[in-house]
Order: sequence, then structure tokens, then C-alpha cells
Amino acid sequence: MDHFTTKGGVMHAEDVPLPRIAAAVGTPVYVYSRATLERHARVFQEALAEVPDKLVAFAVKSNPNLAVLKVLGRQGMGADVVSVGEMRRALAAGIAPEMIVFSGVGKTAAELVAALEAGIGQFNIESEEEGVELAEIAAARGMTAQCTLRINPDVDAGTHDKISTGKADNKFGVPIGEAGQIFGTLSRLPGINLRGVAVHIGSQLADLAPLEAAFGKLGALVGALRGAGHTITHVDLGGGLGVPYRVGEVLPEPAAYGAMVARVTKDWGVKLIFEPGRVIAGNAGVLLTRVVRVKRGIKDPFVIVDAAMNDLARPALYGAYHHFEAVEPTGARMTANIVGPICETGDTFAMGRECDLLEAGDLAVFRTAGAYGATMASSYNSRGFVAEVLVDGDKFAVVADRIEAGAIMDAERVPEWLD
Ligand code: LLP
Repeated sequence: MDHFTTKGGVMHAEDVPLPRIAAAVGTPVYVYSRATLERHARVFQEALAEVPDKLVAFAVKSNPNLAVLKVLGRQGMGADVVSVGEMRRALAAGIAPEMIVFSGVGKTAAELVAALEAGIGQFNIESEEEGVELAEIAAARGMTAQCTLRINPDVDAGTHDKISTGKADNKFGVPIGEAGQIFGTLSRLPGINLRGVAVHIGSQLADLAPLEAAFGKLGALVGALRGAGHTITHVDLGGGLGVPYRVGEVLPEPAAYGAMVARVTKDWGVKLIFEPGRVIAGNAGVLLTRVVRVKRGIKDPFVIVDAAMNDLARPALYGAYHHFEAVEPTGARMTANIVGPICETGDTFAMGRECDLLEAGDLAVFRTAGAYGATMASSYNSRGFVAEVLVDGDKFAVVADRIEAGAIMDAERVPEWLD
């Protein structure tokens, strides 16, 4: 459930009519709903009520906006970060360092040092090599890094190939067959306290079965590691729960996920860490755009909007579906190709899509754009970076300025020897 609803014929974010935001901030613009973010955070936490000891760490990569992090931090969420940039955002939003977990295959030495010095709660080590490096860095400073070892469970998550992370040939984690040996090697090193294991098999999962399979393998590994004399106190179950993008699409509810987790992990006796991203932020945001013009096509007309693949990359990257609708629908419908202004065919949001009838100047939204939306924007075609707005009841605020193309050009230099 979200708080983007049509009242009096006009789509609102909570109590703010979207045309008011378009008039004040311009388009394209991402619009987030505070009430929806809070609701999703609450629903996810309530779904895990039966898990006695846990940390829910929001996957910052899905929406790193400072105001969004502030809202979620106040809901008791920690942060899952994959770069020092994300870590600094979480800290700036007031999330306590001990509630931050650091994942990612390519943490640099400088990032490991910065995270250690910031006192983050946990490093999810993704390779033996990384573990050795972190141990050296920490030991040299007389510090001990709290760590889990990320396991690649070789489970097919059944999602898009580009967002699948738990198959044997993916770059993430250590192969489950080698986990015992690598855990043994790393646990003997000074500078790190290897206290558990972590897993994340992919994103936008439409089925709980692959998650359950991965968690089952992890449970067996925890037993084997304990059998080998290791103390296991923490298990990180990652993120991955999918959200509906299409009207009427049914995905596993957080409650079903929570029940499965409680059942599978009931005898583990560990603190569980969760890293949800999309399920919290996805349906808490829309991308508000204006129709530039409607152009005749051979078959269907092209509705050319002022948002493009640089603002919302998911359709171009993954062929992803985002529901598209008019802000002030008349009831009339059309079949259209929905495209942006960028000069490549990949800048297509949908082909042959049935949607509200739209004309030049009309406002429309792409829904479910709160996760992996603004954060994946670029300035391709020398377009600026899209603005972001947070709505709270009947008020709204710009929470990320539009960065105009000129400001990006201002950061460039022509060397003297070219003049
Ligand atoms: N934890 C780790 C280690 C991850 O790599 C990810 C996502 C998450 C948590 C959060 O997963 P979520 O709950 O959001 O599914 N750009 C793609 C999604 C990439 C996801 C990468 N990792 C998209 O737009 O679909």
C-alpha cells in the first residue's frame, strides 16, 4: 500500500497534488512519500516480530537520499552500505555506526580504514583476500573488526540475470563448498572477529523458495562451523524481497517472508541481520514527468516525456516495467510507445503500452520509482541530475536539488595546452 492516490481527479502524494510540485520544482522530479516509507519500514519490522534478536539495515543503495535515510533511521533502521560514500550518508542521517554493515566485493583499503575508524558494526567479507587485508589493516591499528563471511550458496534466485547474486559464477561471496576452510583460515587472524556468515542471492525475488533454499544451506553451514569449534553469533540474510510493479501483481508479503525466516532460523540462536532495500523504498516514490509532445508513429503514437533513461535507468538496463499513468486522467485511454528525449532507442520506457490518454503538456508518473531510481541517474546527453522531493502530509520539501547540466560542465577543465 502506498500514499499516491487520485483525489478529485488529480493524483496526490499524501495530501499534496502532484501538479503543485511540478509547478514549484519543475519536471522530471522524484517524489517520495514519508508516510509510505514509514509504513513499509513498520510492516517489515512487524513481519519479523518473532525473530528475537535482529537488526534491520536499510540497503542504502536503493535510495541514498539523506532525508529518506533520516526517515528510516528514525524508524529504528540501520544501514547496509557498499561504499564509504554510502557510509557517510548513513552517518550524516544520524544512523549509529554500530547499526551499519558494510558489504561489497571491492572495498578498497582506504574504505576499510575509513569504516574501521568510523566504528561500523559489521564488515561482510566477500573473499579470503579481503579478509586477510582487513585483518592486517585492523591489527596494525590495534583494532578488531567485527565480521561475517559472505557465502555464495549457488542458488538460482529466479530473477533478472543482472540482479542475481547467489549463483556459483556470480562474483559475490565465497563458494559454499570452500566456506569451512576459508572461515578456518580467517578466524585465526588477529584484527578480525569472524562471528558469522552472510548471504544475499538477488533482488526483486518473486518467490520465497530460493531464499528458503539459501537460508537452509546457511543453517547447515552454521551447524558445520560450530561443529568445527567456531562460535557463530550473527547471520546476515541480506535483502531481495520483490515488490509489485504491475497493477494486480502479487508478490510474497513481508509477513510470509517473516514467517518463513522465523521457521527456518528458529534453532540458530544468533542475531539476524536483514538488508531490505526495494521493499521499503520502491513503492514509496514516483517519477513525475511532463509530456513534451506526442508524435505520430507507424503503429502507435510516441508519447515523448521529459524524463529519460538517464533519470530512470531500469527499463533500459533490465527491460523493467514501471506502471505509467496520467496525473489528471480523463478516463480516455490510448496505446502508446512511451519514450524519453535521449538519442538512443534504449531510451524507451514501454512499447505498445495501454495507458491514459495524454497530450503535450500533461503530467504523468512512473510508479514504483522510489528504489533504484534517482540513485542510478546519470547526466547522459548533458542532461542534469534529476531533483527529489519528500512529501509529508500536506507539505513537501526539495530533498535533492536539480543539478543543472551547466553545473556539471563547470566541474570540467580544458587544460592550458589545448587553448
Ligand atoms: N544487500 C546486498 C548485499 C545487496 O547487494 C542488495 C542489492 C541488497 C541488500 C538490497 O536488495 P533489495 O532488498 O533491494 O532487493 N539496480 C537493480 C537492483 C540491484 C540490487 C543490488 N543489490 C534494480 O534496479 O533492479
